[in-house]
Formats: sequence, C-alpha cells, structure tokens
Amino acid sequence: MSNLEKTLSIIKPDAVERNLTEQIKSIFLSNGFKILNEKKLQISKNEAEQFYLVHQSKPFYNDLCSYLSSGPIVVMILEKENAIKHNRDLMGATNPKDAKLGTIRKQFGLSIDKNSVHGSDSLENATLEIEFFFKD
Ligand code: CMP
Repeated sequence: MSNLEKTLSIIKPDAVERNLTEQIKSIFLSNGFKILNEKKLQISKNEAEQFYLVHQSKPFYNDLCSYLSSGPIVVMILEKENAIKHNRDLMGATNPKDAKLGTIRKQFGLSIDKNSVHGSDSLENATLEIEFFFKD
C-alpha cells in the first residue's frame, strides 16, 4: 500500500557553516526524496524554543535552542514513501558517535548538539514542524 509522506528536514548551523548544504541535499535526492520546498533562514532563540517545545523539560533544552538560533539553517519539506522513517534511517543516531556508517550524521556530525541535521520523528510532529516553517 502506498504511504507517501512529507517530513521536515533541517540542515543545522554547523553544516550550513561548513558549506555542506548542497552535498546533504544531493544525498536526499539520490535516496529518492523529493524536495518540495526549501528556504534558508536564521531563527530567533524564541522561535527555536517554540520549535523544540517537546524538549522543554530536558536539561539540554536551553543549549539546544541557543544552538539552533546561532546561525543560518536550511529547512526543507521532503516527500517519499514512508519519508519519516526513511529520513531518520538516513540521518542515523542522534549522537554521531553512535551513527552507522553511511548515515548523514556519521559522515558530517560533530557532536550530539552539532549533529548536522534534524528530521521529524512522527507523523504528528512532521505536520506541526512543516506548519511551523511553511505556514504561508
Ligand atoms: P534533533 O533531532 O534536532 O532533536 C533534538 C536535539 O537535541 C537532537 O537532535 C540533539 O542535537 C540535541 N541533544 C542534545 N543533547 C541531547 C541528548 N542528551 N539526547 C537527545 N538529544 C540531544
């Protein structure tokens, strides 16, 4: 059965700063994702706090929000069959140290914070995150 999904992907400040945007986009494209929409922007700390609200109670919340707002990011809507899971598999484990060979975080991630990419973790969050960045 067909299950075409959309997911939100973010190329984080560490990767944008190292000019990895085109390389990371080409990994998505060669793995069968369509990039339906994309934009480069820098968000405020307050916007990052809204975006990562699900992590509000975590000890790393403040650093995480400071980091995501520290420089330009590229946000994309990716589409593919089972896009949410496929994107998470392609990104690899949150901590690049634990990520498998061939994953984006293994290849480019610097640390658990500077892990180069974000991807929605559920259908519900994908909808909310796409709405957050592409409401108009
Ligand atoms: P991301 O997929 O963007 O979602 C939340 C982010 O919090 C995660 O990637 C990591 O970069 C960051 N983070 C920092 N510390 C931790 C931690 N201990 N566990 C999970 N995520 C963490």
